[in-house]
Amino acid sequence: MRRPFVAANWKMHGAARFVEAYLEDWRKTAPRGAVDVVICPPLAYLDRIAAALRDDGVLLGVQTVHAEPAGAYTGEHAAEMARDLGATYAIVGHSERRRLFAENDTVVAAKFAATKRAGLVPILCVGETLAERRAGQAEATVLAQLDGVLGHACAEPRDTDFVVAYEPVWAIGTGETATPTQAQQMHGTIRARLGDVGDAFAQSVRVVYGGSVNVDNAEALFTQTDIDGGLVGGASLDAVAFAEICRVAGRQTDS
Ligand code: PGA
Repeated sequence: MRRPFVAANWKMHGAARFVEAYLEDWRKTAPRGAVDVVICPPLAYLDRIAAALRDDGVLLGVQTVHAEPAGAYTGEHAAEMARDLGATYAIVGHSERRRLFAENDTVVAAKFAATKRAGLVPILCVGETLAERRAGQAEATVLAQLDGVLGHACAEPRDTDFVVAYEPVWAIGTGETATPTQAQQMHGTIRARLGDVGDAFAQSVRVVYGGSVNVDNAEALFTQTDIDGGLVGGASLDAVAFAEICRVAGRQTDS
């Protein structure tokens, strides 16, 4: 049985006061056990959140890394630096990075390799645009994005420290969610492709859904066979709501 996994993607939101209030709310409401919880705040707040939540069982992640360990890349941070600040996960290939920062599959593969080099666990985002879905290209797009990194994921055969987040681009920040059936169908396709590497591999990698996940739709999504939790943007900015979404995911282990 795969352990449920829920990650918060704060994107470029937060401020010192917001972080303090969030931590206070989180401590009052945080779920215990049964679910892996990762918070990916802006890098600027990572170490203070890592220090504050050290004993709370929450893991921290970054939203991107640079592919190189060091160099003349003004404004960037290496995966090793993120690890030094307290991160254990890194989101790789988020659609906003692909679209706004011109990250193609080659760049994503290099960043995926960089996270593994630094000992971080990649959360690989894949997902089709609305135009690709309408053109009947949703599966082909997602599988091409997955194939772009599978070689790296499987460099060591028993290495399953790797999370896939299926995030249809048309559902991110739009309030529009893939239906549980649509999401399950793509998750099944993703898991089948992981199965080309090996059955045990496919059965152990967590595949989570992202795209307007909230307290109201989490249960219908997370109860699908191949959906192991979520990558949550907007709703993760409310500690109470995010904790509830984590609890919903955790219940999938209990049941
Ligand atoms: P959303 O974002 O939950 O606000 O749609 C998800 C994401 O971009 O990871």
